[in-house]
Amino acid sequence: MMNTKALFILIVIAIYGTAVYFHTQNNKTLRSGIGPTSGPQTSQDEGQLSEELSLQNIVQRTQPDLKDNNTKEAEMSSKTCHPRRQFIFIKTHKTGSCTAVNIFQRYALLHHLSVLIPTGGNLLAWPFPPAEQDYVHTPEEQYDVLLNHVVYNKPWLRSKFPANTAYISIIREPSSQLRSAFNYYSLPRLLKIQSQNPVQTFLQDPWKYKHLSEAYFDFCNVTWDGTRNFMSFDLGYPTEGAEDKERAHRYISELEADFRLFLLLEHLDESLVLLRRLMCWEVRDVLYDIVSKNNRSYPYKSYIPTAQELTNLRRWKAVDYLLYDTFNASLWRKITAQGPDFYEELRYFREVKKRVGTFCRTCKQRRRCDPPSLTIEASKWSRQFAVDSKYCSRIQSQELLLGKYIRERASKEDRKEWTIMRVADNVLRIVQGLPTVKYKAQAE
Ligand SMILES: *[C@@H]1O[C@H](CO)[C@@H](O)[C@H](O)[C@H]1NC(C)=O
Ligand SMILES: *[C@@H]1O[C@H](CO)[C@@H](O)[C@H](O)[C@H]1NC(C)=O
Ligand SMILES: *[C@@H]1O[C@H](CO)[C@@H](O)[C@H](O)[C@H]1NC(C)=O
Ligand SMILES: *[C@@H]1O[C@H](CO)[C@@H](O)[C@H](O)[C@H]1NC(C)=O
Ligand SMILES: *[C@@H]1O[C@H](CO)[C@@H](O)[C@H](O)[C@H]1NC(C)=O
Repeated sequence: MMNTKALFILIVIAIYGTAVYFHTQNNKTLRSGIGPTSGPQTSQDEGQLSEELSLQNIVQRTQPDLKDNNTKEAEMSSKTCHPRRQFIFIKTHKTGSCTAVNIFQRYALLHHLSVLIPTGGNLLAWPFPPAEQDYVHTPEEQYDVLLNHVVYNKPWLRSKFPANTAYISIIREPSSQLRSAFNYYSLPRLLKIQSQNPVQTFLQDPWKYKHLSEAYFDFCNVTWDGTRNFMSFDLGYPTEGAEDKERAHRYISELEADFRLFLLLEHLDESLVLLRRLMCWEVRDVLYDIVSKNNRSYPYKSYIPTAQELTNLRRWKAVDYLLYDTFNASLWRKITAQGPDFYEELRYFREVKKRVGTFCRTCKQRRRCDPPSLTIEASKWSRQFAVDSKYCSRIQSQELLLGKYIRERASKEDRKEWTIMRVADNVLRIVQGLPTVKYKAQAE
């Protein structure tokens, strides 16, 4: 007993040391990345970070006999960790981010967090950070949360948000992301492909279409390729770097250091259970509706590319594949580090998700909840909580609706003159030979 205790203390010390080491390293990379705008790191951050690291990794780093005790550790961690209330969700395109963003919107609403809100509508800026007139300034210029589609821009974000903000994003298997982008951004029109299955035609020789797929946005002097490394682009990697393997590797390693977690659409439940643990949130915070949001159907949605087509795509979209493979591996590594208790929680999460989803669907159909609430009993991972019509309406809400609600609560009117042009609409302007614009009003 005494030995176990001594070992435990030793391990905590070792991990604390490692955490401080990593933190120092991280501090260096951060500073080199952002220059003088970075705020100083406080000792409080250090304590918090080392605590999180130790709680996350303790199971992985201890002797096998201690592993069996990780249930206790999980309980301990839920009692001692502090919920993270400052986070940035980089909402990538065509990745299931509408489903995921609901979780972050709800969390911001529930805890009255200060959200950086676009001045007009739901779009903040693209592909550069918002200009001063593009977002609503708080009197103290302090923000906890960012939820919109923006291209990840480290210097700008680091200058606006506290140093210990958690960065989170979502990515999706690259060939299904491509099919979704093809449909949503009218890519067949841009590429002048008229076949029944434009994705298949494209995949036979992606290079043949390069002169068309590289869409030049003249208003901001940026080239965007919706067929190529679109997810990496949203995460700040330039279109021009598509062939530069070394640069891509470096960039993705940097993302790995900067981001707390990448959710994977293909493994959304696992991702969200992990999110709950890493952010020290509650189970009810990370539940999502059983009806997915922004679910579109189009003829080639379920097209399965041939092996040759996939090989072509892997070469064409090499950076996105590297991104996906890296963060898929990292997701499973993080899950393994949680210990077997993770899978117990995953089963529990799925069961609760189903019960809540069914309850809420019935509320929607009957236009009221009868009975008025559903009680989810306390468990190892969660206190008892009740789901009612308010909870249901929030998990069922579309992004725009909750976005509007967040704005209303901040008492900010929607300034239509500052509404940002949608990327998809600018693509259509390129197809029509018109100049691209930043604001919608410029196109009218
Ligand atoms: C992080 O960088 C700041 C600014 O240079 C420095 O004052 C601080 O000591 C560094 N913290 C760590 C843990 O290295
Ligand atoms: C788990 O923890 C308890 C109490 O701290 C201890 O008595 C027991 O030996 C531990 N079990 C294992 C398998 O290490
Ligand atoms: C546009 O961007 C490229 C680099 O991507 C740069 O070389 C060029 O000078 C820029 N043109 C203008 C007009 O700013
Ligand atoms: C999207 O909708 C289709 C048809 O309505 C359905 O079959 C599919 O399961 C839905 N997808 C998701 C992820 O909910
Ligand atoms: C992600 O990685 C896991 C574990 O290696 C693998 O089983 C799974 O197929 C991968 N997912 C995708 C969509 O590639």
